Amino acid sequence: MCGIVGYVGGREAAGVILDGLGRLEYRGYDSAGLAVKGFGSDGKLRAVKRAGKLSVLRDAVAAGLPAGCVGLGHTRWATHGRPNDVNAHPHLSEDGRLAVIHNGIIENYVELREELAGRGHVFVSETDTEVLVHLMEEAYEATSHDLATAVRACLARVSGAYALVVAHAEHDALVAARNTSPLVIGLGSQENYLASDVPALLPYTRDVIYLLDGDVAELGRDGVVITNLQGVPQARETNRVEWDAEAAEKGGYEHYMLKEIYEQPTVLQNTLFGRFTHGGLDVELGLDLDPTTIDRVVITAAGTASYAGEVGRTLLRRLARLDTVVEVASEFRYSEPVVDERTLCIVVSQSGETIDTLEAMREAKRRGARTLAILNAKGSSISREADDVLYIHAGPEIGVASTKAYLGMVAAFALLSFWFARERGYMDDDAAREYVRALRELPGQVERVLQVREHVAQIAEQIKGARSSLFLGRGINAATALEGALKLKEISYVHAEAYPMGEMKHGPIALVDRDLPVVAVATNSPLYDKTVSNLQEVRARDGRLVVVADEDDTKIGQHAEFVIPVPRTLELLSPVVNVVPLQLLAYEVARALGRDIDQPRNLAKSVTVE
Ligand code: G6P
Repeated sequence: MCGIVGYVGGREAAGVILDGLGRLEYRGYDSAGLAVKGFGSDGKLRAVKRAGKLSVLRDAVAAGLPAGCVGLGHTRWATHGRPNDVNAHPHLSEDGRLAVIHNGIIENYVELREELAGRGHVFVSETDTEVLVHLMEEAYEATSHDLATAVRACLARVSGAYALVVAHAEHDALVAARNTSPLVIGLGSQENYLASDVPALLPYTRDVIYLLDGDVAELGRDGVVITNLQGVPQARETNRVEWDAEAAEKGGYEHYMLKEIYEQPTVLQNTLFGRFTHGGLDVELGLDLDPTTIDRVVITAAGTASYAGEVGRTLLRRLARLDTVVEVASEFRYSEPVVDERTLCIVVSQSGETIDTLEAMREAKRRGARTLAILNAKGSSISREADDVLYIHAGPEIGVASTKAYLGMVAAFALLSFWFARERGYMDDDAAREYVRALRELPGQVERVLQVREHVAQIAEQIKGARSSLFLGRGINAATALEGALKLKEISYVHAEAYPMGEMKHGPIALVDRDLPVVAVATNSPLYDKTVSNLQEVRARDGRLVVVADEDDTKIGQHAEFVIPVPRTLELLSPVVNVVPLQLLAYEVARALGRDIDQPRNLAKSVTVE
C-alpha cells in the first residue's frame, strides 16, 4: 500500500512531495524517498531516501530541500525486500539520470532480473521495482531518449500490477503508468500533480483525472497527454473532487470497511504474486524453515485470524498431508499443549500485537516448537519473536471488523500449503500447474464477486429484522460460515451462529422456522449433493435460505429463497471468493440497521489484554 506523489510546475517540488506524502500517512509505510530536478537541467536527479517514518526523510533534508520543480516521492510498504534505505524508492538508474517509483508487484521480475543481470546490469536492491529501472534505461537509449516511448517499451515486457512514475534528468516532465494500482492526476494552472490517492492533492487542486488500466500519461507544466500502451492517445474526463479530507481517506467509500472489502483484489495480488519460481511450479516464501524437520502443525490465533487458520488447517492437511490442528490462542496457552521440536506453531495475526496470540506463541516456543507468524503489520511484537514471518501485504486495516486481512491470511495459507505440498512430494507438476493457474485467477474473480453488492443489499433489506441467524458450510467452507457469522455479529449486533452443515441435524435444526435466515455456502465440492440435501432440510422447515453458489449452478435456485452467485474456482481455494459476499451481507445488514460500522461497540482493533 505504497504512497505516490509527483509534481511538475513552478513550486519547489520537494516541499509539495513531502506535504503530499504526509497526507497519505494513514496508509502506513516503512520507508520514504524523493527525487527532484530543476527545469532545463540535464544533470543528475537529486534523490534522498530513508528507512523509517516520513519524519526521518524530513530530517534528512532539513538542512535544505533539494531544489527543483520536477519531482517524485514515495512511501513504501515493503513487499519484496526489507524496509531499508537501499530498497526504498525512488530507484535510480546506474548513471543516476532516471528515477522510478512504483506501487504494485512486478510478477515476472525474477526472470527479468536474471535476463538483465546477464546483460551486465548491476542490481543494488532486493526489490521487484529495480528491474523497471534497468529495462527503461535500455529502452531509453533504444528510443532516442523519448521517455514516454521508453516507458511503454518497458511495460510491454512486464506482467503484474503497477502504478509508477518516472523522471529523467533530461526531461522537464514526468511519465506515469497504471495497471491495477490506483493513480490520479491533479490538474493545476501551469503545474500538474500525480498521486496514488486523492488526499495528497486536496490542498492544491480538486480537478483530477483518474488513470485507467493501460494508461501512460506524460505530465508537463503546461499539460497532460494520455496514451495507451501502444501510444494511441486516450481521452479521459476531468472530475471535480467534492470530498473532504476524511472522505478522501476512505477513497469516497462510506466506510473504511467497505473500502477495505473493495481493496481485496489488490491484497490478493500483493500476497500471491511475484513469489512463484520455476515457471510457476514452485513458490519462494523466504522462510528459513526446513520442511523436512516438521511432522505436525498447530495453528493458533484469535477472532478472524483463527478462522483463516481453520482454512489453513484443511489446506495443510489435504494438500501437504500434514497433521494440523487449530486452537484459539486464549485457550492454547493454558491447555498444556502437546508440541515438540518437530511441531510447527503457526500464529496468525493482522496486528501482530494480540496478547493472547503472542503468549500462545511464547508457550509453544517454551515447549520447543518452531514458530512461523502470518502477519500484516510490520515491526510488531510477534514479528520480532517468531522464527519466520510471512507477511500478507494487505496494507493498514482501519475498519475494526477484519476483511482484507482475512483474505490475505487465507491466501498466505494457500501459498504455504502449496510450498509444503511440493517440498513433501504430495503435489505433482500437473496438479501444481492447475493450482497456480487457479491462484492467479483469484484477484479477478474477487473483483467480479464485488459486483453482487446491490443484490446483497436487497437481501440484507429482507433479513435485517431477524433476531438471529444460522451460517452453514461444509469442509473447507465450514470456516467461511464461521467468518460470515462473526462479521454479522461484530458489526450488526444480530446474533449469528455457524455450524458445519452436516452437524445441523444434530441440534440447531430445532431453531429453523420462517423467521430464521440460514446463510449457506454450497459451491462445488465432493459433498455438493449432501449439501443440497441439507438445504432441503432447511427449506422443508420454512427457513429463509440465502445460498452462495457457483454462478454456473443452474439448479440451486429451486432450493433457496436467495442465491448469491460467485465465480467457480478449485474447492480448496473457494473460501477466498465465498467469504466476500458474506462480508458484504454483514456490511449491508449493519448499514440498514444504522450501526457504527467502522467502530462497532465493545470491540477494539487490536486487543493487548488477556
Ligand atoms: C480483535 C479484533 C478482531 C480480530 C482479533 C485478532 O478481537 O476485534 O477483529 O480478528 O482481535 O486480531 P489480530 O490483530 O491478532 O489478527
